[in-house]
Amino acid sequence: MSHLFSPYTLLGLTLKNRIVMAPMCQYSVTEKDGKPNDWHYTHLTSRAIGDTGLVLFEMTDVEPDGRITDQDLGLWSDEQIPAFKRIIDACHGYGAKVGIQIAHAGRKAMDATEPVAPSAIRYADEGYKTPRELSTDGVEAVVGMFREAARRAVAAGVDTIELHGAHGYLIHQFQSPLTNRRSDRYGQNLAQFGVEVIRAVKQVMPPTMPLFMRVSAVEYADGGYDIDHGIEICRQYRDAGVDMFHVSSGGEGHAGVRRPGNYPGYQVPFARAIKEALHAPVTAVGILEDAHLAESVVANGDADLVAIGRGMLRDPYWAIHAAQVLGVKPEVPPQYARAF
Ligand SMILES: Cc1cc2nc3c(=O)[nH]c(=O)nc-3n(C[C@H](O)[C@H](O)[C@H](O)COP(=O)(O)O)c2cc1C
Repeated sequence: MSHLFSPYTLLGLTLKNRIVMAPMCQYSVTEKDGKPNDWHYTHLTSRAIGDTGLVLFEMTDVEPDGRITDQDLGLWSDEQIPAFKRIIDACHGYGAKVGIQIAHAGRKAMDATEPVAPSAIRYADEGYKTPRELSTDGVEAVVGMFREAARRAVAAGVDTIELHGAHGYLIHQFQSPLTNRRSDRYGQNLAQFGVEVIRAVKQVMPPTMPLFMRVSAVEYADGGYDIDHGIEICRQYRDAGVDMFHVSSGGEGHAGVRRPGNYPGYQVPFARAIKEALHAPVTAVGILEDAHLAESVVANGDADLVAIGRGMLRDPYWAIHAAQVLGVKPEVPPQYARAF
């Protein structure tokens, strides 16, 4: 029996296996209208055909200036809903569940004329502008944008929503002492913005739909936060309504003394630490494409789910091939059954 290929239920969401396709920006919205197109259709449905339990749309932004680039997905208008729905319905037809990662790039919005952020601190790399510090009212308005984007995601038929609180984007910018120097309530408690976003999106999600949140468990820039701070932030997020943490790390700036691992499973200890401290379900991610390693992460109880990113760019049928490695019969569409 395989742990990786056992079903998993969280509230009203049941996945056929523990495999998640990690959200991955495709920078492919050629019309710059935030709507997924045939590229996204192929990108996502091919992984659904490939026996992935949960397919996550890439970072999908709550306003045009919340995009990293103008080629990113967005859910700032009801007009965008049908383009998402077409892909979600197709993935459902192949037995996958679907989530959308809702986000705002904040100071990492490269194509915005004037990016916004908790504080006017530039991301120190070529191509980034000094952001404008959001007023307190401005922050509250962005919370409302997250709520509206979540409402649209639900209308498009998602099974879950993931908030992007990792990799140095807006929610992460608020939770880090490196990028949040505010004196209002959003600076007094570094988790406050995330907490308000969580409560807002939960208002528009069906009560049985779980909320995922991606977090950077630690930062690597000098002066950045460590796992204890990461856990404390997640504790507040859990209490505000997060049902599942998707545990990543870094993205806030250049690594200093502390460096990210570049070896299989390097982020799994962070996932386990959050799971143990908060008794909350976690998804592990980061160079987990060795099928036996992915199996062991679930079997050892390090994480409830395993997300695969680049491994699925190399192989859209990663899950099918993992099943074969682990001696499990993969679930494939009837058209392909004769091959298995
Ligand atoms: C092309 C590409 C785009 C990515 N875009 C996103 C994104 O939209 N949101 C996000 O949270 N992470 C993003 N990531 C990070 C992945 O979700 C994942 O965490 C990372 O690649 C590590 O997992 P892996 O070793 O399985 O690739 C991206 C990664 C890649 C390679």
